[in-house]
Amino acid sequence: MPNFVPDDGTGNEQLVVIGEAPGRNENRERRPFVGAAGHRLLDWMNPVGLKRTDAYWTNVYPYQPLANKIETVPRATLSPFIDDLHERLARLTDPIVIVPTGNTALRALTNFAYFPWEPKKRGPAKHKITVPGIFNHRGSIYSYTDLSDRVIKVIPTIHPAATFRAPKMEKRCILDWRRIAEDLRFRELRLPKRTYYVPKTMDELHGHKDLLLSKTDAGCWPLVIDAEWLPGGFTLCGASVSHLIGLLPFLRLSSIGAVKPTPTKHGKSSRSYARATSRSAYSMVIATPMCSSASTRSPFVTINGTHWRCTTC
Ligand code: URA
Repeated sequence: MPNFVPDDGTGNEQLVVIGEAPGRNENRERRPFVGAAGHRLLDWMNPVGLKRTDAYWTNVYPYQPLANKIETVPRATLSPFIDDLHERLARLTDPIVIVPTGNTALRALTNFAYFPWEPKKRGPAKHKITVPGIFNHRGSIYSYTDLSDRVIKVIPTIHPAATFRAPKMEKRCILDWRRIAEDLRFRELRLPKRTYYVPKTMDELHGHKDLLLSKTDAGCWPLVIDAEWLPGGFTLCGASVSHLIGLLPFLRLSSIGAVKPTPTKHGKSSRSYARATSRSAYSMVIATPMCSSASTRSPFVTINGTHWRCTTC
């Protein structure tokens, strides 16, 4: 029988870190995040001025699961522990930022993301919607109302253990922890304010495009372009010179030479790019807010009820 691993902290900390479940070292020492994952977290926290004792450490499930896999714990067994997590959070003196690490912690805290045993696509079989996981939520900031009705900021981030398998993700974790440290300095939820222009005519659109390119030509800001692909080809593209302005233009693809077909992670080839381009000379092109600054960015923008995400970060 694994050991019970209680939370670690006095309850007076302003930062709360939520993990999934203890591993071997945590089980032995009966303290959360004292093994490799904990050390990796401290590698990101220390450079932004945070020490272990600055955080209250907790887990969704307080026992080491079989083979370290939370999916071996039945949902019914987990439920009371999730309730208990919410109750423990409500007893903390004055938390400012809660950091769920990974899908399990985020799901337990907010209902966003998914538990490992839940389908990643939900909805009617015909159009199953992909449920956004931690990679889509990190970089955003949410609020959580605890059982005592206090509103607390939530900044989700990737579980440190994920970076053992995919070291490239570390870059994002470092950005997240920088933001967490910044947000600990104030209590309120400060979301970036943005202005969106939706050109209604082609003339207006070209005006925006010229403005965009003139800024870039003048060497003011880098031009950031983000192209989106879906099965079937190129769907939309964004261009921006500032993280403060999102342009939502209808743009003729061939008019921006900078958009190159890239063999992307979606596996689209230049052939399907060409096909999509020729099919839709004036396809709808959307500029998501670009992120030149980690502290002000929020990778989601909702336009007409649809979430768009900046894929540059
Ligand atoms: N991973 C977790 O999620 N929690 C721990 O306490 C240790 C590793």
